[in-house]
Amino acid sequence: MRIGILTGGGDCPGLNPVIRAVVRRALLAGYEIVGIKNGWKGLVENDTMPLNINAISGILPKGGTILGTSRTNPYKKEGDLKKVQDNFKKMGLDALVAVGGEDTLGVASKLVKDGLPNIVGVPKTIDNDLSATDYTFGFDTALNVAMECIDRLHTTAESHHRIIIAEVMGRHAGWIAIEAGIAGGADVILIPEKPIDLEEVCKIIKQRHERGKTFSIVVVAEGAQFKDGSMVTQEQKLDAFGHVRLGGIGETLAELIEEKTGFETRVSVLGHIQRGGSPTAFDRVLGTRFGVKAVELIIGKKFGQMVALSGNKIIDVPLGEAVKALKTVDEDLYNIAKVFFG
Ligand code: F6P
Repeated sequence: MRIGILTGGGDCPGLNPVIRAVVRRALLAGYEIVGIKNGWKGLVENDTMPLNINAISGILPKGGTILGTSRTNPYKKEGDLKKVQDNFKKMGLDALVAVGGEDTLGVASKLVKDGLPNIVGVPKTIDNDLSATDYTFGFDTALNVAMECIDRLHTTAESHHRIIIAEVMGRHAGWIAIEAGIAGGADVILIPEKPIDLEEVCKIIKQRHERGKTFSIVVVAEGAQFKDGSMVTQEQKLDAFGHVRLGGIGETLAELIEEKTGFETRVSVLGHIQRGGSPTAFDRVLGTRFGVKAVELIIGKKFGQMVALSGNKIIDVPLGEAVKALKTVDEDLYNIAKVFFG
């Protein structure tokens, strides 16, 4: 039995613990394992690396992915799907572990129907927006990084009597913003799920300053939208999965808030700092549990499934289900965050 493993989409802390766990569990089962480089690109280009026990030694605490990643979509370019199907055979694979978010797993789900049924998925993303799992690994690390940054912004905002806007990642869902905002004690939190009401934001800040506070912290998710549905993007060009490059909402908001409140406002864009670095214990453990379970699904010939966390149990769900809908911030959590606005 020969298993391939690939990591696709944006990297996140916890990918290496998954790779390590997959290799260790596969070797225990007597399987051979091959690393496919740079996500689906490696299957299009037949680009692999050997994965033995030495190759994965020492990678547990390392961020990123030793396999590399890309946002390649084999359904985008004519002929790439055929290359993936052919290379799967050329590599002599009996099964594949695809580790990724909505886009990577969406491709895996389609491939299962397009002649490569022996695939299992492992959910990753710092955005935590996959609906079939309570948590994706990577989120906890990003959340803690964002929280620490908000703590740091507090001390400088307070000293200078400023408003500071912390722009965090979160394309369709505001999980990092809402949880880092709650954990870091933000005064306003803006998420993609709730259109930005600028008048309301300024009212909250003014009221806060009227009661004697001389600084405020606003956390905004990069994908937050204004009431007219507009978003701030860095460029309009779409990637292979049809996404624009987000970023810049903090700057736009800072200008508007400063103009409307008269308070000096600064911005800090956390960006890829949230995706880098060593995974937290939670992400290492979750990645490890996911990796072991993925190989156990292969041993049990339970293909076309994705491993998931439900409560404190690792379960499996059909890949199709996993990518059907995005998990957005629920009303209950938002209402809890709102108690602390202002
Ligand atoms: O999908 C995770 C994510 O972190 C999004 O929140 C963000 O929009 C995107 O990746 C940015 O990725 P990159 O800069 O690598 O294209």
